[in-house]
Amino acid sequence: MQESIQRAAKDLAGAENAVALTGAGISVESGIPPFRGKGGIWEKIDPMEYATIEAFMADPVKVWNVLIKEMKTIIDQAAPNEGHKGLARLAEMGILTTVITQNVDGLHQLAGNADVIEFHGNFAWHRCMACDARLETGKIDLSRIPPQCPCGGIYRPEVIFFGESIPPEALTRSRKLSVQCDVMLVVGTSATVHPAAYMPVIAKRNGAVVIEINPEPSPLTGSVSDYLVRGNAGEVMTGIIAELERLRPA
Ligand code: OAD
Repeated sequence: MQESIQRAAKDLAGAENAVALTGAGISVESGIPPFRGKGGIWEKIDPMEYATIEAFMADPVKVWNVLIKEMKTIIDQAAPNEGHKGLARLAEMGILTTVITQNVDGLHQLAGNADVIEFHGNFAWHRCMACDARLETGKIDLSRIPPQCPCGGIYRPEVIFFGESIPPEALTRSRKLSVQCDVMLVVGTSATVHPAAYMPVIAKRNGAVVIEINPEPSPLTGSVSDYLVRGNAGEVMTGIIAELERLRPA
């Protein structure tokens, strides 16, 4: 692993316009389970039954009770880990411009990244399905499920359910950044959900070095990504930052 960490640090040291694409894996060390694989959320519940917009519309009480309340509890307790902090440090060093994240937990912003594209929305806010009024998730009254807006409509989190479109601005900007970047760091994603998983393909086609950080290979490994730094995001990012600070002393 040390060799690939050194390689990643060298590639990043020479980068002028690096971007990161992150997935659930970067938040695992913050206590948030991933979706797929061992201990993953989709191992316990079927996404087709709980995470599609059709499922939510058909039975909001069920989706609130089984999925949304649980997400709220887990996200409320989570804090950024060394993986998030490493990406914030890369931005501070002037290497990383933007984090494109599939996560809805807000941990990149808490770690200090100013430019974060939330590809699948954000759990920090809810929206009334009838009148579109927005309310911070912390202010939602959970004594009645599903929670209701004063207008009588039902609140939903501002996250993307399966079957919904990616926010157009997020998609357009992510595509543009993927074309323009010279290095793309792909951290903690199984790269199985599109169009997010297509961003590294765009980056690669346009000449970027694509570096994966993940304890496991993904469908990108060996085809789209130039190499895989195999390990947990926290440990790997800590190693990369230490090496970069050695290469580029402050
Ligand atoms: P997944 O749960 O599909 O994949 C998590 C990835 O993180 C896997 O490749 C793991 O090997 C890796 N991983 C696990 N622990 C890690 C660690 N400590 N450090 C680094 N990597 C680790 O999550 P996503 O790829 O984010 O969409 O899933 C994409 C989308 O599918 C999600 O945004 C969500 C989900 O259904 C929606 O809800 C719309």
